[in-house]
Amino acid sequence: MPPPVRRTLALRLSLGAALVLAPTAGAGNGGLAPPEPESPNAERILDLYWLLSGIAVFIFLLVTVPLVIFVVRYRSRGRDRAEEGPQVRGNRNLEVGWTVGAVLILVVIASVVFYKLPGIRNLEEAGAAGELRVQVEGRQFYWLYRYPNGAVAIDRLRAPAGRVVRTDITAPEGDVNHSFWVPALGGKFDAIPGVTTNLEFKAEQPGVYLGQCAEFCGIQHAVMDLEVEVMAPDEFDRWVEGRASDPAELGEEEFNGVCSKCHRLGDEKRLIGPSLSAAALEDAEQLGQIVRNGQGEMPAVGRGWTDEQMRALTDYARQVARRANGG
Ligand code: CUA
Repeated sequence: MPPPVRRTLALRLSLGAALVLAPTAGAGNGGLAPPEPESPNAERILDLYWLLSGIAVFIFLLVTVPLVIFVVRYRSRGRDRAEEGPQVRGNRNLEVGWTVGAVLILVVIASVVFYKLPGIRNLEEAGAAGELRVQVEGRQFYWLYRYPNGAVAIDRLRAPAGRVVRTDITAPEGDVNHSFWVPALGGKFDAIPGVTTNLEFKAEQPGVYLGQCAEFCGIQHAVMDLEVEVMAPDEFDRWVEGRASDPAELGEEEFNGVCSKCHRLGDEKRLIGPSLSAAALEDAEQLGQIVRNGQGEMPAVGRGWTDEQMRALTDYARQVARRANGG
């Protein structure tokens, strides 16, 4: 004897609902919602996201709720399979309704998108006073930032609060495509060799906003994450001055962001590339050669680095080697 239809249906529906809702309940922020926007362009993107999601959910319910009702209400109830149902043909009001309704929905979406778009692309006139320009390079497998005063940073982009930051995003010749994406600050812009794209943001709140390379770019794509640290303006000025005049901290950032993503030290288990011996780290000349030109499967991670950048790395590598030697 088959199980009662009502009970299995109810069981399946509640099981389905549990499956759909469990991950949502498990994650913070409602699970499916994007992070809180921290920049006007991100806010506009989020507005569009909610508009489109709202319409999509409305249409989903409009289709599925009647579907379920009809399935339950008009089930066979033991009627003969050959028995014909009522023959219904055409309904002008319904047909006009769903045609006009669909057109109206498209008009609403298009109007709102075109209204919001300019403020997503450009926050202020290009070259506006007080704008900070940062060169951003996506590289296998790290982010390189250059500031107007010559300061360089890896993976962590520092930015002043309350100021428009205009990033020129690209990738060096010979590298591959990456994508610069910090959801809370809006936009997602590809870093393509030979092409420059721009993302502008203006964060009012100091804080650290997480990002990730959003284009599959090779074996260590997954660890190509980044952070944007928004600082109080005077704190930022101190940092950017200090970084330009004393690149000691840069060496550590380079070692962690460029080398350690693929290599471990000494006897530690091999990661992607061979583990680094103290002797290799101490030989500044050879280390510089490999970093600039690559070797075997290793990309030329240091192509185009300034001498100061390279010296920061070799100095830090020597410290790491001494520590490994217990010195
Ligand atoms: Cu760079 Cu993925």
